[in-house]
Amino acid sequence: MRAMIIREPGEPEVFEAAEIERPAVPAGHLLVRVAATSVNPVDWKIRRLGLPLGPEMPAVLQGDVAGTVEEVGAGVSDFRPGDAVFGCAGGVRGSGGALAEYMLCDADLLALKPERLSMAEAAALPLVCLTAWEGLVDGADVGAGQRVLVHAGAGGVGHVALQIALARGARVFATHSGGRKEDLVRELGATPINYREQSVADYVAEHTGGAGFDVVYDTVGGDNIPLSWEAARPRGTVISCQSNSTQDLTPVHLKGLHHIGVLMLLPLLHGTGRAHHGLIMTQVAALAEEGRLRPVLDPAGFALADVAGAHAHLESGQAIGKVVVRVGD
Ligand SMILES: NC(=O)c1ccc[n+]([C@@H]2O[C@H](COP(=O)([O-])OP(=O)(O)OC[C@H]3O[C@@H](n4cnc5c(N)ncnc54)[C@H](OP(=O)(O)O)[C@@H]3O)[C@@H](O)[C@H]2O)c1
Repeated sequence: MRAMIIREPGEPEVFEAAEIERPAVPAGHLLVRVAATSVNPVDWKIRRLGLPLGPEMPAVLQGDVAGTVEEVGAGVSDFRPGDAVFGCAGGVRGSGGALAEYMLCDADLLALKPERLSMAEAAALPLVCLTAWEGLVDGADVGAGQRVLVHAGAGGVGHVALQIALARGARVFATHSGGRKEDLVRELGATPINYREQSVADYVAEHTGGAGFDVVYDTVGGDNIPLSWEAARPRGTVISCQSNSTQDLTPVHLKGLHHIGVLMLLPLLHGTGRAHHGLIMTQVAALAEEGRLRPVLDPAGFALADVAGAHAHLESGQAIGKVVVRVGD
């Protein structure tokens, strides 16, 4: 089958076209004819740095997939050949990714694709929705009456996190750097906050009367983490999916904050909790079908042969929403 592979870490140019063997289908798995996949930061980080959680080389990258079931392994009863499915199912250590004509997927990780969404739109959702859901729903149990701040509301995780929090009845605020990103945050239903123009103290005063947000989702990491602690109310919750930082934890202690760390790759890497991811994807599909969760696709679309361009675009920081790569029909 056709694939784009990498043989070693490096710049986007390390991608090369290759013919590789079509996987056999073990019990509990599906062979999915890939229609589309989307790029996530973990994909370009694996490609650039060869992270230990990345797949063995030569590697087929990218976990997000939308496509059509081609073959069903023994013991799978929820899916049939011809079903349109989506999920995040590989591209890390131990499992191949979606930059190929076919992807072998653990059936537990997938759900039926929402009919309302195209394959490209469906491929944009899985990894970012799992990340948002694990923090906001499984972790913080966000609900009506709460004030939720999402950092990077126009980013991949941020734009779905704010929609999931809204769908659960929260009042949602989201940071952005201005321009089209501000418009997008507003269109999606959150109150925009330009983090370049307003200090944390100012927006906490304006939107919470100085009390602080009940829940803050930090998708930025680094120097943004203490800003999230500052924005949270005493005994509030800070969720982080990007924790690369060395910080004094005193502010967490002094406010009695709850910290929730999210690593949505755990089920893929360790094999446990996969059925829960399938369940989240089913609920994500339901929200999308109801029109309460919509993926925002960056206008620059890419074909499989130009996956290098897709990676370069996301890495540039210029992308808005999700960068999608079309693989099949
Ligand atoms: N742990 C996990 O399971 C997990 C899962 C998914 C993602 N992640 C990590 O989470 C991070 C975000 O992922 P993503 O898919 O959302 O990335 P993305 O689509 O590249 O979006 C990143 C966004 O961050 C914004 N940003 C940069 N600096 C900011 C700041 N100081 N304050 C507010 N916004 C800022 C950028 O927009 P502006 O122009 O508005 O600044 C950009 O829209 C990545 O590092 C990724 O590796 C972790």
